[in-house]
Amino acid sequence: MPQDFDTSAAWRVEDLTRDRGWIFTLEDRDRVQLAAAVKAAFEPGRDLLDYRREEFDLGPGLETISAAAREAHFGRGVSLIKGLPREGMDAEEFRLLTWAIGLHLGVARPQGKATHYLSEVRSAGMDYRSAGGRGYNSNAKLDFHVDSCDLVTLSCYNKAKAGGQSMVTSSVSAWQALAAERPDLAETARAPFYFSRNQEEAPDEAPYYGQPIYDFQDGRLFCKWNRNRVRTAQELEGVPRLSDAQRETADLLDAILRRPELMFTMWLEPGDLQIMNNHVMLHSRTEFEDFEEPDQKRLLHRLWLAPPDSVLLPESWREYFRSIDPGTVRGGFRGHCYDETRHAFEQRQAASHGMPTTIV
Ligand SMILES: [Fe+2]
Repeated sequence: MPQDFDTSAAWRVEDLTRDRGWIFTLEDRDRVQLAAAVKAAFEPGRDLLDYRREEFDLGPGLETISAAAREAHFGRGVSLIKGLPREGMDAEEFRLLTWAIGLHLGVARPQGKATHYLSEVRSAGMDYRSAGGRGYNSNAKLDFHVDSCDLVTLSCYNKAKAGGQSMVTSSVSAWQALAAERPDLAETARAPFYFSRNQEEAPDEAPYYGQPIYDFQDGRLFCKWNRNRVRTAQELEGVPRLSDAQRETADLLDAILRRPELMFTMWLEPGDLQIMNNHVMLHSRTEFEDFEEPDQKRLLHRLWLAPPDSVLLPESWREYFRSIDPGTVRGGFRGHCYDETRHAFEQRQAASHGMPTTIV
């Protein structure tokens, strides 16, 4: 069984603390150019899908942003950009800045029932534990999970009054602990678990799908985990019951993920942009409390991306990602409203990155 991964994504907390090479800081001139590019293109009420990548000359800051994306994709699995031009920008402009960065990094992926491509992460009273619940529009403490795409970016406009801390654990390090301590359960983790789509399935998709927690391809490790989705899948007809070994695996994995030497915690400050590779990083968040004033409430923008330089995925990833081929448009939740406009947007973006424009 593959066990030892000589990859910088196999970090422990002390590694991220000692070497801050995963944190990138934009300079003043970068900030000025980024803000100018966004303000020049911004039109109130214009649909995000209508903006073209070429409309945003992001200037020298794009080099730093691209380096941070590479670090997340092929390095430590997580990176942080500090110093986006948050001052002097309203929430709509900052949202467009996040979108413009995404246009330059890859093809945005749909994220839910309404087939939207950018999520406002804020408390809107959603019950995270319900059958159709999602974490991004609740204020709840979240289980450790991966998002449903290759790369996820999260930009911070406002932080919470209290709580809302961001936690990241390397799924590579977690695998090493699991395989060393309980090789039998590591084997269980390599067989399919069933995840609910939480009512966000497209018309041609089943309400659930099977995927192993861990799989391997070309010497790389891939992790898929979301306890809340496994729990809700258990209420769906046709889903096999969890075995005792699967429950034990889930319990041990969740405990490993919160070990202090493996779980890195950070605060996202206004103007920060976090990037993660979901195949090798798991994330979570603490519960939070909002300010009273509407314009001060916690607000982050989340973008899911298929980057042009992605690698081959394991065969067991195909059902969920729809394509496993390197450099293709893949992942996301197609939801209920995938239409010609959205398809055309994806094709245009794919072409602009030299990716195949046939989207399965
Ligand atoms: Fe997430």
